[in-house]
Amino acid sequence: MNLDVFTLFPQWFEWFRTQRHVANALELGHTVDCIDPRESTPLKWGQVDDTPFGGGAGMVLRVDVMEAALRARYGVDPESLPAQRRVIALTPGGRLLDDALAGELAAEPDVTLLCGRYEGFDERILEHFVTDQVSIGRYVLAGGELAAMVVSDAVLRKLPGVLGKDESAVEESFSVALEGAPEYPHYTRPADWRGWAVPDVLLSGHHERIREWRHEQSRRRSLP
Ligand code: ADE
Repeated sequence: MNLDVFTLFPQWFEWFRTQRHVANALELGHTVDCIDPRESTPLKWGQVDDTPFGGGAGMVLRVDVMEAALRARYGVDPESLPAQRRVIALTPGGRLLDDALAGELAAEPDVTLLCGRYEGFDERILEHFVTDQVSIGRYVLAGGELAAMVVSDAVLRKLPGVLGKDESAVEESFSVALEGAPEYPHYTRPADWRGWAVPDVLLSGHHERIREWRHEQSRRRSLP
């Protein structure tokens, strides 16, 4: 997968790229590139945003600046991009990220994430250059960068071979394997701590009973 993140703060992602799952993905040949719209802005002094028409607080990312950045990266009129790749704007009011959406994006070869700042995007960016608007929750962050990292993390860890051999993205919370339910509880040594004992079934070595117990626990956790 080629993941491109358009952000005014590319240095934030330097840390992200060193995280183990992300580093694994990069080693496998996937890419996570940051593109700073300030570098291609047609405006003077690196300007990328402007005050909103009609008044109000905050600044809005300009459509001409985003067009220039997308054009410089992909060499096409960005209006044609939505037909070629998933272009996702991170916005608080967008489609809520869940396991199904992460899985959907993990199947895409090319994904672009656009991070807004301040008051967000000029609406024409969303109308003409973008396929999806995605939110990581109904609260407002100072910008889309942390949301882009959350989306990237949830997507990259689903790519084959990215998780270590002891981990699995198949049977985990909200997965199809668990019928969308939260994951069952986990325990490790010691088997007894201060009288808090691990459920006997997990020590029984009886794989079928363990499987049934786990699925039952998972189902129970999904009840209101
Ligand atoms: N940008 C600001 N807040 C956001 C949120 N909750 N989700 C996605 N992008 C955002």
